[in-house]
Amino acid sequence: MEFHYSRMRLPLSMLARRWAQPVVQPMVQPMARRCIGIETAKRNSRQKRTAIVTGSSRGIGEAIARRLAAEGYAVTINDIAANKAGAVRLAAELNETYGDGTSTGIIADVTSALEVKSMIEESVKQLGPLTAMVANAGIASVGAALDLSDEDVAQTMNVNFTGVWNCYTHAARQMITQGPVSEGSTGYKILGASSIAAYKPFPLLAHYCASKGAVRSLTQVFAIEMAQHKINVNCYAPGIVGTSMWDRIDETLGKMQGRQKGETVQKFVTELTAMGRVSVPEDVAKVVGGFLCGPDSEFVTGQNIVVDGGIVFS
Ligand SMILES: NC(=O)c1ccc[n+]([C@@H]2O[C@H](COP(=O)([O-])OP(=O)(O)OC[C@H]3O[C@@H](n4cnc5c(N)ncnc54)[C@H](O)[C@@H]3O)[C@@H](O)[C@H]2O)c1
Repeated sequence: MEFHYSRMRLPLSMLARRWAQPVVQPMVQPMARRCIGIETAKRNSRQKRTAIVTGSSRGIGEAIARRLAAEGYAVTINDIAANKAGAVRLAAELNETYGDGTSTGIIADVTSALEVKSMIEESVKQLGPLTAMVANAGIASVGAALDLSDEDVAQTMNVNFTGVWNCYTHAARQMITQGPVSEGSTGYKILGASSIAAYKPFPLLAHYCASKGAVRSLTQVFAIEMAQHKINVNCYAPGIVGTSMWDRIDETLGKMQGRQKGETVQKFVTELTAMGRVSVPEDVAKVVGGFLCGPDSEFVTGQNIVVDGGIVFS
């Protein structure tokens, strides 16, 4: 395996020291099986489908990875080195729950095309041909457009758009090289994290909104170009999901606008969400892992599927 060292800067929230280490680093050794006998045999035959979920050590990505594993996918858990522990834990847990070979963890920064390409190669080597790519990794920072630094904007576009671009294009190349999926399989799926911010302008999140709009546009064009290869390309638009990302938004907006911790997220939910509750990662995972990565989405492509409890109405 080739070893590379990252040159990318981490988001502020992840400034925990990044180790100089191989970029593509398989993290999990097979663990003792819990599932044995017929169930394991059934599962292994279903594991011809594999997925990579980026940024899946926590939050929405973690929920998607869990759902995919429950659906019978073998899943690569990806994150940056700063979140290695969570990725190791999740991959180990999935192997323990569903049997060896269900999951592996690979550290790679999605802003690097080289790292994404190596991650896909490593995933194929460990779990088998790639069926689904979920380009979920994303970051958010808060600030008025005139106060944001060039670096803030570049970093947001780098992770949220270029990261998705790298995952879409390298996954598609891999799928095309593999040739048609085997009879009875779900079909190739490429998915990206957009947001309701692709539809609704949120003040103090101009760069974030722009990055999620870019994912939506890319998805539409890429879906048309990939249709000839029988690859479905869609993105998903969560609303206000209770994850680390929203914890940070809540704290920063709260400080700027004079609210206590937790009040901002509640204000947004009360004022904006028809269904009147904060979304949980599983709301998104049901749509992404259950529907968009499953057989029933065969004729759905180029869409941005909104999962927000009723904030924007497409
Ligand atoms: N939470 C929400 O309300 C919400 C709403 C709409 C869209 N989204 C989008 O959903 C996705 C997941 O969000 P979340 O709320 O779970 O966020 P999160 O911050 O909890 O998780 C994001 C994960 O992505 C990883 N990541 C960041 N940069 C990376 C990089 N360069 N390479 C690889 N991994 C990287 C992080 O380490 C983290 O584990 C993001 O794209 C986000 O923009 C979230």
